Amino acid sequence: MLHPIPHQPSSGDPVVELLGVTCGYNGDPVLHDVDLKLMAGDFVGLLGPSGSGKTTLLRTILGAVELYGGDVRVQGVSTGNGRPRIGYVPQLKTIDWNFPVTVEETVMMGLTMSNPLFPWNRAGDRKLVHQMLERLGIEDLRKRHIRQLSGGQQQRVFLARALVSNPSLLLLDEPTTGIDIKTRDEFLHLLHELNHQGVTIVMTTHEINAVAAHLPWVVCLNGRILASGPPSEVFTPETFKLTYDAEMPVIKYMDMTLVAESPHRFNGAGPEQSTDAAHARKRQ
Ligand SMILES: Nc1ncnc2c1ncn2[C@@H]1O[C@H](COP(=O)(O)OP(=O)(O)OP(=O)(O)O)[C@@H](O)[C@H]1O
Ligand SMILES: [Mg+2]
Repeated sequence: MLHPIPHQPSSGDPVVELLGVTCGYNGDPVLHDVDLKLMAGDFVGLLGPSGSGKTTLLRTILGAVELYGGDVRVQGVSTGNGRPRIGYVPQLKTIDWNFPVTVEETVMMGLTMSNPLFPWNRAGDRKLVHQMLERLGIEDLRKRHIRQLSGGQQQRVFLARALVSNPSLLLLDEPTTGIDIKTRDEFLHLLHELNHQGVTIVMTTHEINAVAAHLPWVVCLNGRILASGPPSEVFTPETFKLTYDAEMPVIKYMDMTLVAESPHRFNGAGPEQSTDAAHARKRQ
C-alpha cells in the first residue's frame, strides 16, 4: 500500500487547473467539459478504457492538444502563454526504438527539451545526467542503445529523462505496463519517494488492483470525468459500469478494495454486487 489515506488538501494555488476544457484533434473533441484541479503533492491515477482520452488528458496539460473550449493553467499560466517545466514519460509503445540513441543521450534530451537555446554536452549537463542515471540505478547501462534494454530498464531511462530537468510536475503514461511484479513494485516505490519529495504526479494505468488501488486519488475517465476521489470511494460497480461499460464486482476485504478485473456481460445487466454505497465524490 503506497498511501493508506489521501493527502491532506494542500493550501496554495493549484499546480494544474482545467476549467471546462473541451479538446481533441483535427476539430473533433475527445474530452468534454473537463474540470480538474491538482494541488502540490497530489498523486493521481487516471483510469479509463482504451480511447477514453487518458493520453489526451496528459497531453492537454502539456499544451499539445487543440483546445475548443475552457482553459488549461499550469502553475497559474495558461498553456500557450509559457513553457512550464513538466516531466513527461510517454507510453513506451509510442517510442521509435530504431532511433539511434544511447541511454545517456536519451536522458540528455530531457535537458535540451527544457533548455533548447543551449547546446548539449556541456560538462554541467553531463554531470546532471550521470547523477540521475545513478539515482535510478541504470548508470552501468549508459552506453547501451535504448532498444537493448528490458521493459523495466526502458521505463527508468524515460523516467530519468523526465526528471533530469528537476520538474515539480511529473506526467507518466502507463509506466507500469509490461513490466514484472517486482520491477513494478520498485518503480511505484520510486514514484512514491519522488511524491514525498514534493513532486506532483499524474499517471495513467489499466491496472486497477495492482496500481490504481494503491494511489491516494483516482480519476475515472471516458471522454469526460466520471468520478474522482480515493479508490475506497470511487471503486464501485456503478462507477466501473459508467467507465468501462462492464459489470465489475467490487469486494471489500479487511482494508482492501478488490475489483474483479475480468469484465463480463458487456452492455448487459449483471449482478449488483456493490458492498459500498459510497458515491464517488467530485473534487471541487
Ligand atoms: N494524434 C491524434 N490525432 C487524432 N486522433 C487522436 C490522436 N491521438 C489520439 N486520438 C484519438 O483520441 C481518442 C483518445 O485517445 P487517447 O490516446 O487519449 O486514449 P487513451 O485513453 O490514452 O487510450 P489507451 O489506453 O489505448 O492508451 C481516440 O479515439 C484516439 O483515436
Ligand atoms: Mg494512452
